[in-house]
Amino acid sequence: MDSFEFNKIAGWLLAAALSILGISIGTHMAFRPVKPEKPSYVVEGVVAEADPAAPAAPAVADKPIAFYLASADVAKGEAVFKKCGACHNAEKGGTNGIGPNLYGIVGNVHDHMPGFSYSDALMAMKGKPWNFDELNAWLTSPKAYAAGTKMAFGGISKPEDRAAVIAYLNSKSDKPLPMPAVPADAAPAAAPAEAAPAK
Ligand code: HEC
Repeated sequence: MDSFEFNKIAGWLLAAALSILGISIGTHMAFRPVKPEKPSYVVEGVVAEADPAAPAAPAVADKPIAFYLASADVAKGEAVFKKCGACHNAEKGGTNGIGPNLYGIVGNVHDHMPGFSYSDALMAMKGKPWNFDELNAWLTSPKAYAAGTKMAFGGISKPEDRAAVIAYLNSKSDKPLPMPAVPADAAPAAAPAEAAPAK
């Protein structure tokens, strides 16, 4: 009888152990899906944090470059061009430096200097016109405009400065382009701003 009792107790213990094992497996199984959920939640959080940052730039988006070109100051542009001068010469007949000569670049085509060894990134755009909008995008962020470009320049963040340097480059030309018309959506903002100080 003692050994029967012992077996009975051992049986209960075994059953208990099995159910604990079962619970622990069950818990583990239940726990497992929780684990991947955590990192994916964290990733989502990171993405969610990055997302508002990305639209934040367009939220304070600049007006079209034509708006800034309307009041662009060529003399200021000449000063801004000092940032470019280490690599670029903008004089007629000037040599290529680290970057190509930029005389007459406004309204010209991408890769306009035949002797200059452009990057593949810029060669992929060969012949495309360098109009005001293209130059504005390029000077905002050369890397974003042409990933893989050889132009090691971070870009000009202020639209006024970009407009100024574009206006300056436009003056360095045999046939400067007329300034573009200010788009209708940017014009109403410009008109009251100009009208207010005049009163
Ligand atoms: C560190 C040197 C460097 C600086 C600073 C620099 N550039 Fe450049 N730039 C280059 C190089 C190199 C290229 C050729 C890019 C390529 O092939 O990817 C280039 C290309 C260009 C082109 C295209 C020319 C063409 O023929 O298509 C323009 C326009 C230009 N730069 C304007 C500017 C302006 C404006 C500034 C100043 C705000 C500036 N760059 C500052 C090196 C520079």
